[in-house]
This record gives sequence, structure tokens and C-alpha cells, in this order.
Amino acid sequence: MTRLNLAILISGRGSNMEALLKAAAAADYPAKPVLVLANRPDAKGLETAMGAGIPALAIDHKPFGKDREAFERAMDEALTEAGTEIIALAGFMRVLTPWFVEKWQGRMINIHPSLLPKYKGLDTHQRALDAGDVEAGATVHWVSPGVDDGEIIQQASLPILPGDTADSLAARLLPVEHQLYPEALAKACALVSART
Ligand code: GAR
Repeated sequence: MTRLNLAILISGRGSNMEALLKAAAAADYPAKPVLVLANRPDAKGLETAMGAGIPALAIDHKPFGKDREAFERAMDEALTEAGTEIIALAGFMRVLTPWFVEKWQGRMINIHPSLLPKYKGLDTHQRALDAGDVEAGATVHWVSPGVDDGEIIQQASLPILPGDTADSLAARLLPVEHQLYPEALAKACALVSART
């Protein structure tokens, strides 16, 4: 079985990253983590990755100022050097330029905490509550130039309960994300491998 070299991009806690690393610890999982990359040097997930023995690197976006593409060129160099074949965005909170998205199109996926196409962008849990929705969920999708806009790979949902707040909903959704993301990444790997 082909195991694709996986890079995971994070900005903070990295609990979805951790779920992917756990799944990929199995020898028959179709992705092999080669790099965890954060755009914030204080991202907690970096420590988790290092603890799991995965190369982890911070490329701080701040010194690049408004030059998003220069920041992405630095990321791209690190990704290429690591031999990356597929990228999973896991709570990576920077909008990517068309240059980077096009470079990795068809090899980059994202997890978003809503049932897309509903609630692209931020505050997804509050927006689901404000709309009076009876269910919420998460989506794993291919990354395309539009924000949270690419083709859907897999979704998982859960009921919204009376008295739910954005925080309680986010807390109940997180373990659902942790189950969903490794499954969806495995699907994405199968599609990428079939193409090459
Ligand atoms: C997750 O809920 C993920 O779905 C969300 O950020 C959180 C990251 O948590 N992603 C987005 O909102 C992307 N638009 P984690 O760092 O513990 O995985």
C-alpha cells in the first residue's frame, strides 16, 4: 500500500492534528506524517507533534507583514523539502493566496466546523445556533481558491441540544471532528493515489 507523505498545517491547539497523527501511527494508514508546520511559534500543537516524534516547524507569518505570498513561499519550501505529497489543514487560520492553493490543488484538504455550504468563515457554532438549526457538524473538503468552498469529501453531524451555547456545541463537535478527519484523509489519499 502506498503511504503518502503528509504535512499538517496548524495555528494553535492542534487536537485535529493529534487525531491524524494517532490514526497515522497504524502501519496500514494511507498517510505518513513527515511535517507539522505552524504559522505561530507558540502553537501548542507543535509540542504535541514533537512529543510524537514528528518533525515540527514554526514559520511565523508576522515578519512577512502583508506579503502573504512571501510567507507561503517559505512554507512551500519547507513542505517541498519534507517531500510532502498531501497537506491537511487542521485549524490553520490563515487565508491562503490563489498562488499557494493552485500549487497544491487536489493535494490539500481542510476541516471546517460547519455543515458546508452553511457558515463559511468564522463563528460557525454561534451562527448555527442563531439560525435555529437542529443540527450542526463538520466538513472535510478539498481546498480551492474560495474560502471554505472546495468539493466536499465527507461530513459528520450531531444534534443541537436545548440550552446549547457556542462553547458547548464546539466541545461536543470536537470529538466528532477527530473521528471524521482521519476517515476523510484516508479517502483523500485513495483519490490522490488513484490519480498518480
Ligand atoms: C477545529 O474546530 C477546526 O474545525 C477549526 O478550528 C478548530 C481547530 O482546533 N477550523 C476552522 O475553523 C477552519 N476554518 P484544533 O487546533 O484543536 O484542531
